[in-house]
Amino acid sequence: MMPDICDYEDSTYRTDFWEGQNRDYEDRVERIALHRLMPKSGHRLLELGAGFGRLTNEFEAYDQVVLLDYSRSQLEYARQQYGDDGFIYVAANIYQMPFAPGLFDVATMIRVLHHMQEPAKALHAVRDIMGADGVFILEYANKQNIKAIARWLLRQQTWSPFEQEPVEFVTLNYNFHPKHVRTLLREVGFEPGRQLTVSHFRMDVLKRLVPAGILATLDAGAQLTGNLWQLAPSVFTQSRAAGDTVETPVDAFWKCPTCGSLALSETVNSVDCEECGTRWAIVNGVYDFKEPIKKGGQLEADHPVS
Ligand SMILES: C[S@@+](CC[C@H](N)C(=O)[O-])C[C@H]1O[C@@H](n2cnc3c(N)ncnc32)[C@H](O)[C@@H]1O
Ligand SMILES: [Zn+2]
Repeated sequence: MMPDICDYEDSTYRTDFWEGQNRDYEDRVERIALHRLMPKSGHRLLELGAGFGRLTNEFEAYDQVVLLDYSRSQLEYARQQYGDDGFIYVAANIYQMPFAPGLFDVATMIRVLHHMQEPAKALHAVRDIMGADGVFILEYANKQNIKAIARWLLRQQTWSPFEQEPVEFVTLNYNFHPKHVRTLLREVGFEPGRQLTVSHFRMDVLKRLVPAGILATLDAGAQLTGNLWQLAPSVFTQSRAAGDTVETPVDAFWKCPTCGSLALSETVNSVDCEECGTRWAIVNGVYDFKEPIKKGGQLEADHPVS
């Protein structure tokens, strides 16, 4: 059975969480961490859970950037910002991605793992589509953060920040222990490397009193302690794809999420599996692999292909 999905379709995430919401500090420090861990350029980068494309401009030096998200509306907004030159927009489930194995040299997943009900399954899916030696930059919400430790010591919180088990603090919102994440990464075939702790000064009172630029500079210094201890609310880690990697067959890009075939052909309006006959729509420039428009020979009503 597929894990539950935290659905952002038609959500107001951009306007309710980021724009004008006093999160300039968080945005800046995440970009600093990303810069430190990301190869500066490359061939093909996958942004997992790209949302409305908040961070996508950081990847403009790549030949091709694939934005994947479960929300079509978030992707449509991103497409209005970045257009189609060098960018591909894919509505799909991380647990069931429509890409040929080994396709990407770099992948990023920022503020997304905390929605994964089955993180091992999600990370496994990511490993499958990474090329040999591919770089994976993962951000996750850290349960072992100072605030959680203080609350636990003051008995204001029942769960221990030191236990490795993830904690679901709100439905489909999880915090993870750094050791647990590293174990998962290893189990699915990544070699976890450098860690940066991020957002040390994420406190309303500080953000109100100190300009975001100053807080970000302080955080940039504190990030560098990330390999020693992890007590900040957010952790960025860089991993490399290790072990056996399937080489992407020449010219392969899509993989049929229904039957696993790599023999898919593209028309103006759809991507069609030559093996099982399933078809997915391309709507408003977004490849929609959430629901097929044709399954088992029947056209489904909601996305008629003209
Ligand atoms: C908190 S937002 C982060 C967006 C972006 N990475 C950023 O930092 O601004 C989480 C995103 O993950 C996406 N998401 C959640 N579960 C997903 C899944 N199973 N497959 C694909 N995307 C998913 C949501 O649609 C949402 O856009
Ligand atoms: Zn198929």
